Amino acid sequence: MEFDRGIWLTGADGMLGRQLAAAFAEEGLPCHASDREVDIRDRHALEGFARGRRIGWIVNCAAYTAVDRAEDEPDAALAVNAAGVENLARLAAGRGARFIHFSTDYVFAGDRPGPYREDEPPRPLSRYGWSKWQGELRLAAVHDRFFLFRVSWLYGVHGPNFVHTMLRLFREGGGARVVNDQFGSPTYAALLAANIAGLIASGSERFGVYHYCDRGVISWFDFAAAVRDLGRAAGRIEGPVALEAVSTAAYSGRAPRPARVVLNSGKAERELGFLVRDWRQNLGEFFRETARRPGAKP
Ligand SMILES: NC(=O)c1ccc[n+]([C@@H]2O[C@H](COP(=O)([O-])OP(=O)(O)OC[C@H]3O[C@@H](n4cnc5c(N)ncnc54)[C@H](OP(=O)(O)O)[C@@H]3O)[C@@H](O)[C@H]2O)c1
Repeated sequence: MEFDRGIWLTGADGMLGRQLAAAFAEEGLPCHASDREVDIRDRHALEGFARGRRIGWIVNCAAYTAVDRAEDEPDAALAVNAAGVENLARLAAGRGARFIHFSTDYVFAGDRPGPYREDEPPRPLSRYGWSKWQGELRLAAVHDRFFLFRVSWLYGVHGPNFVHTMLRLFREGGGARVVNDQFGSPTYAALLAANIAGLIASGSERFGVYHYCDRGVISWFDFAAAVRDLGRAAGRIEGPVALEAVSTAAYSGRAPRPARVVLNSGKAERELGFLVRDWRQNLGEFFRETARRPGAKP
């Protein structure tokens, strides 16, 4: 373990960033955190932050994540998700720091039924997906000591995310219309973060691309129904809830989304020892975790 040098966590105020900061603290890993105030599009800002700090790992959670808005401003998405990632990766390579980055199931078209392995060629449908794929390519072009995790349907105690949105709609009594013809697997951020903290603590050098998500394949509608049922059992939803299944064609999202992407987490399990749990078990854990940490409640 090389903890004479710390971790630089970018995007530390985002959903995954906050979860990782907590996991690093729990694991006793020293962490320098930054978010918007150190813009990853700005090489000088990055150099300025790194100066004088001993950095052994950069963990990048900074990202442009507005999937629909990216259709109208693809350059803004690329500036963060591709050029910004390259800036950070160059800095990491120059300082001999390992790099951890996150990408998305949206780099795939979702036009095949089987689980996607890491070596399948990306074909993003949306501009967000394209920008994330460009980031992957630019990272691999400038650094070779990196872990790249593609994850899907990320949610956790820190919002905003799909589960928080459903809970809010159910509590407000307005109900929700949710697509039942897009399939995939949720990723519970707390378990992902614990796995990443363990990876860093282990000093692993098994660099490369990895897929990671919870076990099980569901539609967004199934996910919403489980939030309703487990949320009610946890005392977080009272009164009747209107939940309607709709088709993608009837739902007016701006960005095209893949119909079915199931990521195969086998490589991360085998090579990194990552723990993968059933999606429903993780959703149950989400409700227990939010009850334990009232400040993180949606
Ligand atoms: N959420 C999902 O369902 C999902 C699914 C698959 C993969 N991923 C990937 O997982 C990673 C983490 O996602 P997340 O949901 O935690 O994202 P998030 O909540 O949107 O957090 C991203 C953070 O980065 C900040 N940021 C944006 N532009 C920046 C810049 N130029 N310089 C520095 N910081 C900047 C954001 O600030 P602002 O809030 O002010 O913009 C935010 O605090 C991302 O790489 C994402 O693509 C997410």
